[in-house]
Amino acid sequence: MSNERIDALRKAVDTNPDDVLLRLVLAESLVTAEQVEEALDQYVVLLDKDGLPEDQFVPVGELAAANGRLALLRSLLETARQKGVVEGTGRLQQLVDTMISERSGVKIKVGPEEQTPFEADTLKETTTFDQVGGMEEIKRVIHRMVILPLSRPELYEKYGRKSGGGVLLYGPPGCGKTLLARATAGECGLPFINVRIEDVMDPYMGVSERNLHAVFERARANSPCVLFLDELDALAFARHKHGGSEARRLVDVLLQELDAIGSDNDGLLVLAATNAPWDVDEAMLRPGRFDRVIFVPPPDEPARADILSVLVKDVPATGLDLKALAGQTPMFSGADLRALIERGVDRVIDEALANGGEPPLGMHHLADVLGAVKPSTLDWLHRARSYIEFANQSERYDDVAAYLKSRDVRRRLNRDSKS
Ligand SMILES: Nc1ncnc2c1ncn2[C@@H]1O[C@H](COP(=O)(O)OP(=O)(O)OP(=O)(O)O)[C@@H](O)[C@H]1O
Ligand SMILES: [Mg+2]
Repeated sequence: MSNERIDALRKAVDTNPDDVLLRLVLAESLVTAEQVEEALDQYVVLLDKDGLPEDQFVPVGELAAANGRLALLRSLLETARQKGVVEGTGRLQQLVDTMISERSGVKIKVGPEEQTPFEADTLKETTTFDQVGGMEEIKRVIHRMVILPLSRPELYEKYGRKSGGGVLLYGPPGCGKTLLARATAGECGLPFINVRIEDVMDPYMGVSERNLHAVFERARANSPCVLFLDELDALAFARHKHGGSEARRLVDVLLQELDAIGSDNDGLLVLAATNAPWDVDEAMLRPGRFDRVIFVPPPDEPARADILSVLVKDVPATGLDLKALAGQTPMFSGADLRALIERGVDRVIDEALANGGEPPLGMHHLADVLGAVKPSTLDWLHRARSYIEFANQSERYDDVAAYLKSRDVRRRLNRDSKS
């Protein structure tokens, strides 16, 4: 694009500062014209105005990283997390980590490494339960429901107990569903295939069904392995049943594939996760399909201390009182705790850049940033509460109901509704 046209675009953006589409065109033209710094400035504004399309997060992140724009990169990551943009969050995290360690010369790793899906397809998953903080009860349940039947099939045969069927994990965002699924594969010593909604959905007639079938084919080819369907509600949306036949067919394909498990899907363990179990088609939850449904609640206080210790394991630190910190972070999800530690580490890095040396992470760094990180589980819990109250489906969600009735949670939610 010629300089005149870019000038004209600049003027247009100046007069219509809230027109994000126009600004997006300007930013893209600037990139093409290799005026990258200015382009990145425009992306900062776009992000601020919530005008950056989600599929642009990673490309803009790469550009920001290549040009040393850490602040932009961090806001991209944070926004992606808040919006729940799963695709690319891992990549953005990687970019931030690399940039930080390059800058400070200090190698800092927070928590277990994120892995990109598909890459590690046929490799055995290396995440284990050790890397999942807290959740002792859930780990036990998974051990009994999933790991034991796989490792001791003869025991189950003897008692005539079928070990087939999938497990559906549900709960508020960021509380470790995906991590837990991965670790389950790791505990079984199996490869982990992570299927996300973007890998399947396609606007063209019939393509989504074919994609979904291909996913199961690939899993079968790699079996024994764990196939993980993230965002099951989107794949198997209940209202599809009454909606268009196109969407209905996708649910049918999924049902067929699940029903084949146990007959010819041997060695294929299917796990799924959702934030919205009430949106999952009922047919999905029948025996032999996702008949084991596990609530993954926000971590309680000891679990938070445990998660924090996992998160700071490789961070140079001194005098951290993780118990105290766990007490100060009620209703924080694992992801919120991770954000807290990352912000603390950012403080340390700022300090290292300003004064040199390699200062360790201390309580004062974390105290400084504690006010800036808010628990992200409350919205979900409010929604779950009204669902359970009004939809009269409490039986299936007994675990959630019990959790919501516990004193601390009730108080916290009531306080939250009033404010
Ligand atoms: N129990 C935990 N132990 C250690 N880290 C945790 C734990 N729970 C969450 N985290 C951290 O939070 C991040 C987000 O967790 P994860 O992606 O598993 O959540 P999720 O429940 O799948 O969320 P979503 O519903 O948004 O998909 C993890 O990558 C990990 O860093
Ligand atoms: Mg997840």
